[in-house]
Amino acid sequence: MKHNITLLKGDGIGPEISNSVLKIIESTGVQINWDEHLAGKDAYLKYGEVMPNETLDSIKKNKVVLKAPITTPIGEGFASVNVQLRRYFDLFANIRPSKNLPNIKTPFNNVDLVVIRENTEDIYAGIENKIDENTVHGIKLITKKCCKRICDYAFQYALKNKRKEVTVATKANISKLADGLFLNCFREISKNYPEIKAREILIDNLCMQLVVNPSQFDVLVMPNLYGDIISDLCAGLVGGLGIAYSSNIGKYEGKDYAIFEAVHGSAPDIAGKNIANPTGLLRSAIEMLKYINEIEAAIKIEKALFEVFKEGKILTPDLDKNATTEEFTNEIIRKMKSN
Ligand code: NAI
Repeated sequence: MKHNITLLKGDGIGPEISNSVLKIIESTGVQINWDEHLAGKDAYLKYGEVMPNETLDSIKKNKVVLKAPITTPIGEGFASVNVQLRRYFDLFANIRPSKNLPNIKTPFNNVDLVVIRENTEDIYAGIENKIDENTVHGIKLITKKCCKRICDYAFQYALKNKRKEVTVATKANISKLADGLFLNCFREISKNYPEIKAREILIDNLCMQLVVNPSQFDVLVMPNLYGDIISDLCAGLVGGLGIAYSSNIGKYEGKDYAIFEAVHGSAPDIAGKNIANPTGLLRSAIEMLKYINEIEAAIKIEKALFEVFKEGKILTPDLDKNATTEEFTNEIIRKMKSN
């Protein structure tokens, strides 16, 4: 069966790491018709819009997207394309697993946790007003509907993935209404899942606990901003942004939609140098292959990737080795062929 998947190669290191991932997937023999489109700066230059209709129509049709990073101007310019996409397709769950890879030196070797981040509201709703020249009013939007569905998703995820515990992280002692609503929804939903342990923690304590003893955590669920920050912290626990991956899952007009993307940004400082690490996007693509039921190919790539890490020689400079993106890509393909 040939799959139709929308491909957004992004900018910065996006095209380099996308080409690496496409080459690896192609060598598994999985048949994918990559429907490539633009988003962000490059789309703006061509169409005068960062999210052109061509791109949206392709996603509507294909329902599955592999997306490389897109630059967002900081403090000015257009709103984040990532945030726009998540909001447009109501991709309410952002799933960020963090698990040690072989041979990546980190202070801990037994991290295996998943951050499930609410992906559509909180300060990302973008409600900000200038009251006067010196005063800005920013709104943290939290709704019962979104809290309940993300907490339910976290427990469902725990069940499906044979996890034992879901921890909710909030600042409900201070944000009594907004975070209080999230916490109360968690408590309500947790009653439907007596087989999964429900645990509560304040976000500041979670930060401390994560850098002291991260293996105590299993599945974590939290509002958008905390999830954004904590999932990067967790990526750091297992080797950094270059190897972290994510899925964005949701429903649009009653149908399932999913965008798979690396966690890191467009890394303009190393763009075009053939040294970017494609592991984050590759692991996102492995999740995508599982999602479209190409399990055999997903396992094949995963196995080869783990072997290359286990040998620990042909890795990119962010992992303190000196392989190029291309050498790393070819090594994974070589491993897959020899297995
Ligand atoms: P960044 O993740 O692009 O870079 C942070 C540091 O990590 C840099 O030193 C970079 O060289 C390194 N790095 C990141 N990915 C790497 C990889 N695959 N291999 C090797 N090294 C890697 O974060 P930064 O600099 O804050 O953001 C740059 C741009 O990316 C911004 O415009 C930001 O808004 C955007 N961004 C886009 C995201 C997306 O499209 N999903 C996510 C995060 C940021």
